[in-house]
Amino acid sequence: MAQHGRIRDLFDEVEKAPPDKVEDAFDRLTRMLCVHETAEEEIVHPYARRKLDNGQGVVADRLQEENRAKRLLVELHDDGVDHPRFWDRLAELRTAVTAHARSEERYEFVKLRAHTSMAERRAMAAAVRAAEALAPVRPHPGTESVARNVLMGTPLALMDRARDMIGKALGRR
Ligand SMILES: [Fe+2]
Ligand SMILES: [Fe+2]
Repeated sequence: MAQHGRIRDLFDEVEKAPPDKVEDAFDRLTRMLCVHETAEEEIVHPYARRKLDNGQGVVADRLQEENRAKRLLVELHDDGVDHPRFWDRLAELRTAVTAHARSEERYEFVKLRAHTSMAERRAMAAAVRAAEALAPVRPHPGTESVARNVLMGTPLALMDRARDMIGKALGRR
């Protein structure tokens, strides 16, 4: 849920960035979204599927929303921040991501909290934090272009790396 707040702030940062900083801000948003959705898919949704009443259905609905947001994100990334429709599609992405986060909180996270132990939630949080290393909260001055080369790639490559880091943190790989 804290990451949902971070994502909201990062959308604000992109929207308010001066023209020469839009790309950096959009990169940070992209990293956070990739890490967040991957962490949910690898850690949170599998738990919800098993633990909640109608967990399969709840998660299937969330995955549909996530896939739509991912498609939009990949398009935005491929076309770049100078594309004439960048701002329209960013607004569309924001609307989709916001509605999705609200549904997760309402239909999934609240129930998950009631159906898991503190120890289970701590283990999930540790794996989420391992993936967060890919999404630094603030860029360090001067390292942003290096960070982009090392971490950016495409959103799909980034999601792959996040999946890998989470797998390691969970002892699966
Ligand atoms: Fe999600
Ligand atoms: Fe989420």
